[in-house]
Amino acid sequence: MKLWPTSLGARTLLTLLLGLALVQAAGLTIHAYDRIDLQHQEEASALGMRAMGIYRSIVATSVSERQAALQDLDLGPGTTAKLQQGPPLEPADPTPDQLAHAIRFSMSFVQVRAANHPRDVQMRGIPWDGGITIGYLLPDGGWLSVKIITPPPRPWHSPTFLWAFGVMTLCAAILSFWAVRQLTGPVATLAAAAEALGRDVNAPPLPEGGPDEVARAASAFNTMASRIRRFVQDRTFLLAAIGHDLRTPITRLKLRAEFIDDDELRDKFLADLDELDTMVSATLAFGRDTSDMEPAVPLDLAALLRTILDETGDARPSQADGLTLDAAAHVTLRGRPVALKRAFANLIGNAVKYGATARVCVACPHPGLATVTVEDDGPGIPPDQLERVFDPFYRVEDSRNRETGGTGLGLPIARNIFRAHGGDVVLANRAGGGARATVTLPV
Ligand SMILES: Nc1ncnc2c1ncn2[C@@H]1O[C@H](COP(=O)(O)OP(=O)(O)OP(=O)(O)O)[C@@H](O)[C@H]1O
Ligand SMILES: [Mg+2]
Repeated sequence: MKLWPTSLGARTLLTLLLGLALVQAAGLTIHAYDRIDLQHQEEASALGMRAMGIYRSIVATSVSERQAALQDLDLGPGTTAKLQQGPPLEPADPTPDQLAHAIRFSMSFVQVRAANHPRDVQMRGIPWDGGITIGYLLPDGGWLSVKIITPPPRPWHSPTFLWAFGVMTLCAAILSFWAVRQLTGPVATLAAAAEALGRDVNAPPLPEGGPDEVARAASAFNTMASRIRRFVQDRTFLLAAIGHDLRTPITRLKLRAEFIDDDELRDKFLADLDELDTMVSATLAFGRDTSDMEPAVPLDLAALLRTILDETGDARPSQADGLTLDAAAHVTLRGRPVALKRAFANLIGNAVKYGATARVCVACPHPGLATVTVEDDGPGIPPDQLERVFDPFYRVEDSRNRETGGTGLGLPIARNIFRAHGGDVVLANRAGGGARATVTLPV
């Protein structure tokens, strides 16, 4: 099973070639048996005539000169002949009937005077398997025994045959290769298009040409992509509409709250309204970020992170010392700068907010992949909530809400942005305490 390749192309090609080899082998075997049969027939008739020719020469000579005549005769390859008293007993095996029949038939083509016809003909053995002995009973007594050994048939022994076989195999292999390419090419294109759509809903549509099935698949894919696009647009529009419509009543409520006489109640009212306002803004940003129309450009990861750290340091001068960047690897990638900045700012902001420090490290563990880790010395995140914090509006502890004042949308937004770039972000707790966010991005 280990030899079985994993790619569709290689599997199809292998199956085709194996099938082809089987068909070729079967065809060759049939061809070989056919040729062997033919060669046997040719051999049988040739040796029948040859033996009969020898007999004709001997029977025509007088008894006393036969031995000498036999010596002078050119018998031909693999042939021996002798005069003897009895019929031949060697070799032990009888000649098969069909073969004996064919040999007798061929003998009838050699013209012999009626008086000289052999009185009896006996055969033993097989010409290509140890040789055949044909015994003729001479009209005046005594036997002429002719032994003929023929080489075994060689069905492949033809230069054109080998050439034809080679050219046939090569043509079939090239055709199979071409057919497999035709077949698997569209699958790869479809996979690449799906991948591109995952990163960017506005990726260009697939060309809908080629064979019927491929064109239909491409058209179905394009329809699906446009539905997803419309769905995302509808959702963004809906979010914008809700956000917009909520803004006005919130502003009105804020204005009216100013008229509340009770100071404490008014402050609480305003604080709640502010929180509501922040949530509405964050919701709007969430919708905007996940359907970002911003174009992708080449950008320097270290420079981007340096800017975020500087801005965070400016906003919180007391914590500026705890913000460090270790960018040993120089990484340039194609991405949407504003979105990526928002995503990294969320992670660094969390580290500073919940862990007071942020150690950022850029690495390139292997070609084609960059990682950014953001570590802090805070309390970390309960292990069973490491994934839940990526749910929109989920925050670990309610009591912290007031102090740190977030909406719980930072991480889901960040994850959305990284995934739209073909990467991801995961959270973990460090062995020495504190949390670590690890971002992976293809470069
Ligand atoms: N580095 C961290 N250390 C400890 N807890 C963290 C860390 N990062 C995130 N969390 C927890 O995960 C929760 C969700 O984080 P997330 O960034 O999504 O929202 P937020 O920071 O509360 O609000 P905002 O939308 O303003 O970012 C946080 O409320 C916090 O409890
Ligand atoms: Mg946050």
